[in-house]
Amino acid sequence: MGRLNQTPILFRIVNKLTNVFLDLFYQGKILEDIIPRKHITSGKSTLHPPHSTSYFVLNQITKGVISKEIGFEMYNNFYDIGSGYGRVLLYFNRFFQKQALNYSIYGLELQEDIFSRCKKNTQKVKIEIINANALKFRFESDSIMFLFNPFDNSTLEAFVSNIKSSNKRICVVFWGHNKFEYFPQNESKLYKISKLESCLIWKNEIK
Ligand SMILES: C[S@@+](CC[C@H](N)C(=O)[O-])C[C@H]1O[C@@H](n2cnc3c(N)ncnc32)[C@H](O)[C@@H]1O
Repeated sequence: MGRLNQTPILFRIVNKLTNVFLDLFYQGKILEDIIPRKHITSGKSTLHPPHSTSYFVLNQITKGVISKEIGFEMYNNFYDIGSGYGRVLLYFNRFFQKQALNYSIYGLELQEDIFSRCKKNTQKVKIEIINANALKFRFESDSIMFLFNPFDNSTLEAFVSNIKSSNKRICVVFWGHNKFEYFPQNESKLYKISKLESCLIWKNEIK
């Protein structure tokens, strides 16, 4: 969080306003909390109010080298791990339709109030929202899992270990500014997007 706060304030304001404008344009509603809410704790970890993935990030993933590396046509399930208010899900629903790709789309959200808002925001489209802990959830094979840095270190470590030991064919797309060392270095590729942000692609190719 500390490093992200080094992003110039003007850039953050413009980014936020652009996201709000694009939410209204594409989805007809704002898909993030404008008013900061209190952090809550669950078990050992502190959960933050969702900071939705920006459209800049989403466009980077669906275009150019990152999109080629993922190979969207090679999978048929998409999970947003920690789906927040549903921006990622709605964006990918449109993307898959445009590409004529037949995907099942799922959002996994731990916090009940956020889950309810996500369900409401996505009720007009065919997206399944699940109120569950990603650490205890059984995923389908042939899946893309998108993570916009939703976990603390120990949860991420446990999540990666679960996928490693599963016999599922999975492509993880992890966007963040640190924690890349938790993924198997020899099986993942890291794309530097800016001074602070990178996107890691890890394919667990077990068949
Ligand atoms: C940074 S937000 C991402 C929001 C969403 N992906 C988006 O871009 O619009 C992270 C979300 O992950 C959820 N989360 C945190 N730990 C989780 C877990 N163990 N299982 C499921 N969801 C979790 C949080 O409640 C929060 O809503």
